[in-house]
Amino acid sequence: MKILGLETSCDESAVSVVENGHNVLSNVVSSQIDKHAPYGGVVPELAAREHLDNISTVIDSALRLADVNIKEINAIAVTKTPGLLPALLVGVSFAKGLASSLKLPLIGVNHITAHMFGALIDQEAVIRSGKSYPILALIVSGGHTLLVMIERDGKCTIVGRTLDDAAGEAFDKGAKILQLSYPGGPLIDQLSRFGDGRRFNFPRGLCGGSGNPVKPENRLNFSFSGVKTSLLYQLKEWDFNRLELNQAVNQLIVNNSIPEQLNKYLSQMLTDYLDIIASYQEAVVDAVVVKTMLGVKDFNAKTLIMCGGVACNHRLREKLKIEATKANVPLIIAEPKYCTDNAAMIAGLAYYQIMNGEKDDLDLDATPSIKNIGRIPLNWTE
Ligand code: KG4
Ligand code: ZN
Repeated sequence: MKILGLETSCDESAVSVVENGHNVLSNVVSSQIDKHAPYGGVVPELAAREHLDNISTVIDSALRLADVNIKEINAIAVTKTPGLLPALLVGVSFAKGLASSLKLPLIGVNHITAHMFGALIDQEAVIRSGKSYPILALIVSGGHTLLVMIERDGKCTIVGRTLDDAAGEAFDKGAKILQLSYPGGPLIDQLSRFGDGRRFNFPRGLCGGSGNPVKPENRLNFSFSGVKTSLLYQLKEWDFNRLELNQAVNQLIVNNSIPEQLNKYLSQMLTDYLDIIASYQEAVVDAVVVKTMLGVKDFNAKTLIMCGGVACNHRLREKLKIEATKANVPLIIAEPKYCTDNAAMIAGLAYYQIMNGEKDDLDLDATPSIKNIGRIPLNWTE
């Protein structure tokens, strides 16, 4: 069964053709980052307009790359929730039009469960084996930071969530304070490789480091507002010459190496700045890893999965691998192309939904936010 999936919940217009849930025939992502960068964040109306302009071309590319004619498609899948409403509506309306004109089943997919599926797209054997459950899923993206327990019957329970910013926001807002461009997560990741993450001690939200005990109800919850404020104060203490520093940082970003021939003063300034970045990243990563491993212990998870855009972060991947190995829990991290928003995760999960008898009507609605996740229908067996 070949499913055409559409994803337009935020700032990527993505379309994919996936066969039988796991065979990704094409996975096309058209990013709008350049359009939103001047505003320092995603502008919902602008995102919707860009999706409208792009979606037909992206669908054509996805079909061409998959070498599939639209007549060979068996179902249309689309992200229905959560996300930016104007952006979601473009995908949902387009999917309805396609499903109706081609007389195909329409499947609305939850973006969060789809992110979790993104980690399992190459892991059919793990999905099928009862020994894999319960699975603890860490979802770290620009909009969400969640710990979700997945039972064998597909029941999902949110056991941890952020009380303020998402981990991706901690990176993007931190980057803004550091005067880096949007989205700053990948830049912090790149620059931190040149700094010393142990030099500055930034707070780890809700991890008990401040001396105040963590309330039991927040044991698995996250908070990133403190670390962001601490970064702001830390930077105020340094008398950085922004013009000179920015030039050196831009050179570093372009060449991915420390610029040569910096004078002693500039070289020290760059070192201090990079150490601050690496230490900031270390604090965010530490908090995420500490909470996740507590979740593994509390729920005796048999598998740990990590997904969402922030799961691309090299230090987070490295640290979680170390801790998962120590705890002897198998860890599956989504491939970077399935971490950030994509439609393969939508078309892949939609297959499981169809096999579980789920199908939507043409009155399918886009919903910007959700309180609970419900189920991820992984328990279909032939
Ligand atoms: O999952 P995603 O593509 O979109 C949402 O559903 O939010 O995640 C985007 C987020 C952004 O905040 C971006 O800065 C962050 O993921 N991100 C990273 C990295 N790559 C993307 N954060 C830290 N390190 C990275 N390498
Ligand atoms: Zn996402």
